[in-house]
Amino acid sequence: MEDVASFEALSGFTRALSVALHERDPYTRFHCDRVDLLACELGIACGLSATDITMLRISSVLHDIGKIGIPDSVLLKPASLDQDEWEAITTHSIRGQRIACATQLPNAEQIGTVIRHHHEYFNGAGYPDGLAGESIPLLSRILSIADSYDAMATPRIYQRARNHDEIMEILRTEENIKFDPFIFRKFAEVIERSSCRA
Ligand SMILES: [Fe+2]
Repeated sequence: MEDVASFEALSGFTRALSVALHERDPYTRFHCDRVDLLACELGIACGLSATDITMLRISSVLHDIGKIGIPDSVLLKPASLDQDEWEAITTHSIRGQRIACATQLPNAEQIGTVIRHHHEYFNGAGYPDGLAGESIPLLSRILSIADSYDAMATPRIYQRARNHDEIMEILRTEENIKFDPFIFRKFAEVIERSSCRA
């Protein structure tokens, strides 16, 4: 993976926010770091420019930074969330956009937009805006797949870690629903040779 920019190439702002997230919830920070690696590999396979790869990396590292604003009773709940708690946690993508924009990094507005839309569904059933298809920013569509894979590969108190075959079986059922089919096909190739493969 010699094409992958080192983490040190990312700005101090990004790293400082990542450390702040670690102080709040180490699980979410490590999740973001793994998503960064996987999304970067996928972005390269999709032929992104160097500028887009850097934006994708920063967006990945910060994609759940908005969870800083979610109460402990929801963020750290050792069980599935009820409806009100679920609605509370969905606000993290907009909170994350606000934080990313406040960094005033180069391309901060675009990075904020990628973060805002990382939970949109290809069929329009996601949040926060119900965007569909290519209306969803390309980098958000890439991030979404890497995010979903890692979330299922990691054990939580309320959910065991799934193995690679189990995860791919679930993800395949979400092709065209949650995921862009073109990017999903690229992902299916990339994950086979990725160090992030579960
Ligand atoms: Fe998220």
